[in-house]
Amino acid sequence: MDARLETNRALWDELVSLHVRTPHAYDLESFRAGSSTLKAIEVEEVGDVQGRRLLHLQCHFGMDTLSWARRGAQVVGADFSAQAIALARRLSEEVGVPARFVCSDLYELPKRLDGEFDVVFTSYGVLCWLPDLVRWGEVIAHFLAPGGLFYIVEQHPVGGMLSERGGELVASGSYFDSGAIEETKDGSYADRNAVLENKTSYEWQHPLSDIINALTRAGLRVEFLHEFPFCMFQWLPLMVRGEDGWYRVPGRENVPLLFSLKASKG
Ligand SMILES: C[S@@+](CC[C@H](N)C(=O)[O-])C[C@H]1O[C@@H](n2cnc3c(N)ncnc32)[C@H](O)[C@@H]1O
Repeated sequence: MDARLETNRALWDELVSLHVRTPHAYDLESFRAGSSTLKAIEVEEVGDVQGRRLLHLQCHFGMDTLSWARRGAQVVGADFSAQAIALARRLSEEVGVPARFVCSDLYELPKRLDGEFDVVFTSYGVLCWLPDLVRWGEVIAHFLAPGGLFYIVEQHPVGGMLSERGGELVASGSYFDSGAIEETKDGSYADRNAVLENKTSYEWQHPLSDIINALTRAGLRVEFLHEFPFCMFQWLPLMVRGEDGWYRVPGRENVPLLFSLKASKG
């Protein structure tokens, strides 16, 4: 595996043990009591999954994967973090919801997992960890059954170029993919103040055109693309959580922070 992805994997292994201690972000107690971690956007836009074979890419420790299973899907979750997959398997047993979890780098998954799926799903904080979206599109197409659908709900790439200066939003980064962005920092989206052992990460910025072209190049047909002026976590300190649980920049409802996309395989 690419050395930069190995570095990211060490970070994600560490983040699993951090995220189980962040109930505002990963509410394991409610989940164990039967609640779903899925948000209304993906539940409505993916539609009925009863009896459908669903593959969840970059599933972290599987709360969303198991939530799809609670809605009747036959689920497989995949992630490259061994810690995440071990916890996902434990959770599946603990809550009595059947699921299969596969530990694999996304790009290696076709070598590690057989079968085809009616739905390939991925969400909230996944694309920035992938250096190559053309190969990502090929992996999705590989696993989709004819007539199957791909769905993603994700941070908007416009948000990726924004930062905060003096309480104001500023466009400080590139909208376009300008190669690996190496960062050395503490904290995670679930706990800004956490001190980490694995501080280095590599991320990539992907404009909407690259996302859509990767899917169409892999033979998928885009059914819709939606954009929203809110996102799922406090990306920048000036964002405020609304009663609906989404984070917004006060007074800036004109900036896209989230998108969702559905595509199908003919
Ligand atoms: C932000 S999390 C996804 C969060 C998920 N939507 C949730 O709410 O729990 C990103 C996930 O991508 C995984 N990941 C990052 N790079 C990967 C790669 N190259 N192959 C497979 N999984 C990867 C990480 O281990 C992590 O679990």
